[in-house]
Amino acid sequence: MRRMLIAGNWKMNGLSAEGLKLAETLAQRLQQATDYGDPPPPACDLLICPPFTLLWPLRDAIAGSGIALGGQDCHPAESGAHTGDVAAAMLSDVGCSHVVLGHSERRADHDEDDALVRAKAEAALAAGLTPIVCVGETEAQRDAGETLAVIARQVQGSVPAQALAGAERGLVVAYEPVWAIGTGRTATPEQVQEVHAALRGQLAELLGSARAEAIRLLYGGSVKPGNAADLLALDDVDGALVGGASLKAEDFWEIAAACPA
Ligand code: PGA
Repeated sequence: MRRMLIAGNWKMNGLSAEGLKLAETLAQRLQQATDYGDPPPPACDLLICPPFTLLWPLRDAIAGSGIALGGQDCHPAESGAHTGDVAAAMLSDVGCSHVVLGHSERRADHDEDDALVRAKAEAALAAGLTPIVCVGETEAQRDAGETLAVIARQVQGSVPAQALAGAERGLVVAYEPVWAIGTGRTATPEQVQEVHAALRGQLAELLGSARAEAIRLLYGGSVKPGNAADLLALDDVDGALVGGASLKAEDFWEIAAACPA
C-alpha cells in the first residue's frame, strides 16, 4: 500500500518570520494530533518545500515533528562553477529528503527540457534524495487531444529509469496540468484518473510493475480544501502537490485531513 503524500510547494513565497510561523503551526498541529488523537493525524506524509533561504531555519522548526523538508530544484552537477545554483548534496546536507524537479514554471521560466530534468533527478538520487518529477500538458495541448502523448513523452524523457534501478530512494511523479496551476481551475476527477492510470501503466513498462506500484503519483493544480477529498479518493492518486493553498496552515492541514484513512 502506498501511503499518501501531501507536499506544499511554497514557490518564491515566504520571508523568514511568516515562513517560520507557517512551519511551526503545522508542526504543532501534527504534534497535537499525534498526542491527543482529536482530530487524528492525517493519513499521509507531510512535506514542505520552502524557498532555499528558509531551508535551514525550517529544518530546526520542524525537527522531530515528522514533517519532511524538500527543495524546489537542484543542479545536475555535484558542485562547481554554477553561480546561483544549488547542488542536490547541499539539499540533503540541510535536511531535505525530497526535491521538486521539472516543475512547469521552471520548464517555462528557465527553458528546462526533459533531458535536464532527468539529469537533475539522477543527481538527486545520487545524493540520497527522492525526486518529485513534474509533468503536465498545456491547455493548447489538451485542446488538441495530445494530453496523454505529451505526458508519455515527458515521462520517457525525464524519469531517471536507469539510476532508479540501483537507488535506495524511490521516485514521486506529480501530474500538474499547466492550465490548472494557480488558476483556480482544477482538472476533473475523470481527467486526473485518466492521466494517472496512463502514468502508472507507462511507469510499469519503464521500470517494471513492482517499482511502478511503489511510486506515489501526486496531482497538482489548484488543489484546495474544497476539492481535495474528490481528488484524493481516486484510485491512482497518492497525494497532492499543493501551491497556493500550502501557504495557509489551515488550508494545507484540511487538504491533508482529506486523505482517505
Ligand atoms: P497551485 O500550484 O496549487 O497554486 O495551483 C501547484 C503547483 O504549482 O505545484
